[in-house]
Amino acid sequence: MTSPASPDPFEPDAADVRALGHAATEWIARHFAELRDLPVIPDTTPAAVFARFAQPLPEEPAPWPALLERFEREVAPASFHLPSPRYFGLMNPAPLPIAVFAEALAAALNQNVGAWHHSPAATAIERTVIRWLCDLAGLPAGAFGSLTPGGSLANTTGLKIALAAKLPRTIREGVWGLERRPVLYASAEAHFSIPKSAGILGLGSAAGVRTVPVDASSRLDVAALRRMVATDRAAGLDPFCVVGIAGVTSNGVIDPLDAIADAARDLALWFHVDAAYAAGGLMSDALRPRFRGIERADSITMDPHKWWHMPYPCGAILTRDGEAGRRAFAADAVYIPATDDAVEFRDHGLAGSRPFSALKLWMAMQLVGRRAYGRHAELQVELTERFARELTKDGDWEVVTPIDTAIAAVRYRGRSADAKSRGGSQLDSLQDRIVSRVLARRRWWISPTTTVGTRAIRVMVISYLTRWEHLQELIGELREAAATL
Ligand SMILES: Cc1ncc(COP(=O)(O)O)c(C=O)c1O
Repeated sequence: MTSPASPDPFEPDAADVRALGHAATEWIARHFAELRDLPVIPDTTPAAVFARFAQPLPEEPAPWPALLERFEREVAPASFHLPSPRYFGLMNPAPLPIAVFAEALAAALNQNVGAWHHSPAATAIERTVIRWLCDLAGLPAGAFGSLTPGGSLANTTGLKIALAAKLPRTIREGVWGLERRPVLYASAEAHFSIPKSAGILGLGSAAGVRTVPVDASSRLDVAALRRMVATDRAAGLDPFCVVGIAGVTSNGVIDPLDAIADAARDLALWFHVDAAYAAGGLMSDALRPRFRGIERADSITMDPHKWWHMPYPCGAILTRDGEAGRRAFAADAVYIPATDDAVEFRDHGLAGSRPFSALKLWMAMQLVGRRAYGRHAELQVELTERFARELTKDGDWEVVTPIDTAIAAVRYRGRSADAKSRGGSQLDSLQDRIVSRVLARRRWWISPTTTVGTRAIRVMVISYLTRWEHLQELIGELREAAATL
């Protein structure tokens, strides 16, 4: 980076700000250009990185060029390059450059989108973006919601709204006064934020969540759900909500949302869909039928910082009844001026002060457009299907669960003679050893998982830079690892 003189931090003139911005922009542009070649995993350890950044509280100012230089010299090289095309990881995307710069613009305006008064345009833009997400899901005109710092907090927000809607007494009195214990239902494949949210809501992360079995495809068993709710009601529990998943974390599978919606209707349960990852697939005309039933949800979690390629944070909670969020969260704030006909986003969720996260999504959705976003999602699903076909064609690898989105859960089963001589637990540990060997090379990132009771290897196409050649390279590495171990 070039090193212009450091401005007074509290009194920068326009030339100082411009120089700072140019230097940062220069680095960002170079970083995007180099991403394809960078190793995914940095060569560091917790001890090394903690030691490098341990430093006393700064008493005196440092020139900002030195800070940017240190960022380039020490921070970036010790960073995990999840936007890499060889990151086949969790649901962390490569951010779109437009969204990276939108974050800087939003920070410059520093709107507080908790209060309309402090964010007129930002509130209007968040309202529009929420409308777009509701339209994608097929929710009715009265639906509404808010952006959240991610899918976990969207789930917490959604489940709080569900509890408040089904048991309004809990809004003021909590769960103390209830005669029957409220419980929610989710499959064994649900994301950890579901039990965590139940814990935060006072239901208990274990006692508050009833685990519904899944079928061999990892989809929630709706008949079992119906039986469990009947038995639990007879036993004195108070079932109030069922969670369907669109894009299981371990394998990307989509639950039978329409059948869950039927059950929720028959059993008078709130229907929450955790579509944190897969909701991006709703932008594709070809993929949308896989989500049939999502339009019947009472609440939906979406995470634009997954398939929309937003930098963190950008999650969303949507509710069919657009007032449900306000009923759960509205609180008195005598010090904030009231404005008729405004939307006060702090009343729709957990946060008071809220960032202008909508700007990046608003800009990106206009820049890319729904169709191109949709085609991109299709392309990633096709790459994943092709990866699975190619890896399994010799019979020594298998696909553990169906490929509904851009995640493949695969397993090495060994050559037939081999497979017979190895026990199941030996094969399980082999999956972990294959992953460890691939990670040790630092060039790719994949992860182990357990789904439908089977130890597997999870490979996800999430970076928009990933091409077939990157997956071919991974297949070679997986085969070599399996042959060597
Ligand atoms: C199904 C599902 N729900 C929720 C989340 C949580 O999202 P976040 O990491 O944004 O909190 C994830 C994250 O991977 C997920 O896979």
